[in-house]
Amino acid sequence: TTVEWEAESYDMGGHDTYMHKEISEQADAVDRVLRGRIDDRFSTVHLGGLNLDAREARGVRRIKILGCGTSYHAGQIGAQLIEELARIPADAEPASEFRYRNPVVDPDTLYVAVSQSGETYDVLAAVQELKRKGARVLGVVNVVGSAIAREADGGTYVHAGPEVCVVSTKCFTNTVVAFALLALHLGRIRDLSVADGKRIIDGLRRLPAQITEILENEDEIKKLAAEYADAKSMMFIGRVRGYPVAREASLKLKEVSYIHAEAYPASELKHGPLALIEPAMPTVAIVPDDDLLEKNRAAMEEIKARSGRILAVAHQVQEKADHTIVVPKNENELDPILMGIPLQLFAYHTALAMGRDIDKPRNLAKSVTVE
Ligand code: G6P
Repeated sequence: TTVEWEAESYDMGGHDTYMHKEISEQADAVDRVLRGRIDDRFSTVHLGGLNLDAREARGVRRIKILGCGTSYHAGQIGAQLIEELARIPADAEPASEFRYRNPVVDPDTLYVAVSQSGETYDVLAAVQELKRKGARVLGVVNVVGSAIAREADGGTYVHAGPEVCVVSTKCFTNTVVAFALLALHLGRIRDLSVADGKRIIDGLRRLPAQITEILENEDEIKKLAAEYADAKSMMFIGRVRGYPVAREASLKLKEVSYIHAEAYPASELKHGPLALIEPAMPTVAIVPDDDLLEKNRAAMEEIKARSGRILAVAHQVQEKADHTIVVPKNENELDPILMGIPLQLFAYHTALAMGRDIDKPRNLAKSVTVE
């Protein structure tokens, strides 16, 4: 069974699909998740519902993030943000994998369940199993009062507003921003300096205007989607911060267009997937302007040497790529929040050109409430 949004009760606001509407709403959505939470005096943020005091937060030795689908990918970026800003070892895992491997539940580990709907059965069951074993579980959830939100010891709502399209866009972005807030909060209780806290806060405040800037580029992205719509399959690559972005972009494309896509860390190309590269298998490369820029350029060179076409998402035009979508630069840690957004539009326009049922892709449900 599935939980159905009362879709008809939400106005499409002049958009042809909910996916397009929800992509377009992201600047406002991010503004909402930030609102009322920033504390400039201490260069930190307040998250009212966390139920984790400073002493408890200092005692956390590890963070384990659990989710499914797009929420799992948001959790992967969240884990990186927590490691970078709070220096707490963190990782994300699909909730069902976690649940079925009889995991070691450690008292110093903080568990975080991520779910847009708050009703996904695999996530809920993982939370219940953890609670039964005495673990502390926080929820990062969109739907207020949902099962996972109620079951968790505390947490934060991501305030994305109702998301109707089966594939998640604005909720993904807001969930990652919510993780940035959690990471900043934990970081400032631990070793993150005032200056770094301020740097991240300034970066967060720049996000809504930068999202608007990206969305203004829609016509160009639409042309690029037409350019690559003949692909039988697409490769998505990234490194470290770019890798979960590549994974989520690949998922988005396959969900709405049904084009086969897979994501790899750029460094793994040479260990197998390079064998697939040919003109009919284009690559989307996530190329942030950070310390891995040269490494990413080298990967693009390897692809070009095998006649692969490349669409880069980068902070400056990439000469090795056939096309570049240039996105505005933020702080290195926050760049992943922005780099996936043009690829949501890319997936949308590819699916639109192919005449797909964008808001309700075949075989998929908004919320999977059974095993
Ligand atoms: C379903 C949806 C996905 C979603 C996943 C997790 O499979 O089709 O888009 O990412 O469930 O949903 P949740 O509500 O837990 O984030």
